[in-house]
Amino acid sequence: MSKICVTAHANDFAACVTGIDLTQPVTGVLSDQLRAQWLRYQVLYFPDQPMTHGDLERFTESLGPFGHDPYISPVPGHPNILEVRHEPDEAAIPFGSSWHSDWSFQAAPPNATVLHAKVVPPIGGGTHFADGVRAFETLPQALRRAIEGRRAVHSARRPYSHEGYRAGGKRTSMRITPSDDAWQTQCHPIIRTHPESGRQSLFLNPVYTLGIEGMDADESSQILQELFEHMLQPDFVYQHRWTENMLVLWDNRTVMHSAQGGYSGYRRVMHRTTVAGSVPV
Ligand code: OGA
Ligand code: MN
Repeated sequence: MSKICVTAHANDFAACVTGIDLTQPVTGVLSDQLRAQWLRYQVLYFPDQPMTHGDLERFTESLGPFGHDPYISPVPGHPNILEVRHEPDEAAIPFGSSWHSDWSFQAAPPNATVLHAKVVPPIGGGTHFADGVRAFETLPQALRRAIEGRRAVHSARRPYSHEGYRAGGKRTSMRITPSDDAWQTQCHPIIRTHPESGRQSLFLNPVYTLGIEGMDADESSQILQELFEHMLQPDFVYQHRWTENMLVLWDNRTVMHSAQGGYSGYRRVMHRTTVAGSVPV
């Protein structure tokens, strides 16, 4: 059996994995090894994996059952694969370009997101990732005291309510269906304990987090702003660059991400799956 090779980036946040063929089933010891590396580095990327839809589905299911993806129509015939597409002549801002974690407004947001690059522009179009574990571990005392034991209110209303969707401008190449469901809210602890590693992290993001539960609105937005500034300092961010057929897997419980633009005139196409998660504690 071949051994996987893992090369970590700065501060042990994000790692490159080679010596594995994701067009083949990942099972047994290999699957356990991969899970351990994923929990440790939070973001793993695998260059040169020319995977089919079926390969992507099988790999995703080796990590757990599929998550539920609302508001966006899947790839025809593949209910668990979404296509993230941006056409060369498209004026709309890229999908996912504000900092967020995926579906944090759900009662049990996904554990993982898997993104597979099909068409990569020659310039721009990277993805940035922010380390929520390190952000928690370095949080100034006063800020930590302000949020300890608190929950945040999450909702999909900004991007996916009819009103929010209209205000955000049309995304022509993505099949998005806004809904009144997006007005629902869901509270989650701000300091989250990872159910597998036991590590604590900050679980918040500027797209879906509306405020801090039971706190005066001005104080809440002030604290959120300070938290986001802290979480997004350059030293906590890994700037990922894509090549065709690269697969990236991230821990959606501890990481925020944002899609980068800078490739107008070029096409970018990614395929995406999620792995179901548990209620944050
Ligand atoms: C996503 C997402 C980022 C990107 O698919 O959830 O945020 O760089 N994508 O395409
Ligand atoms: Mn996303």
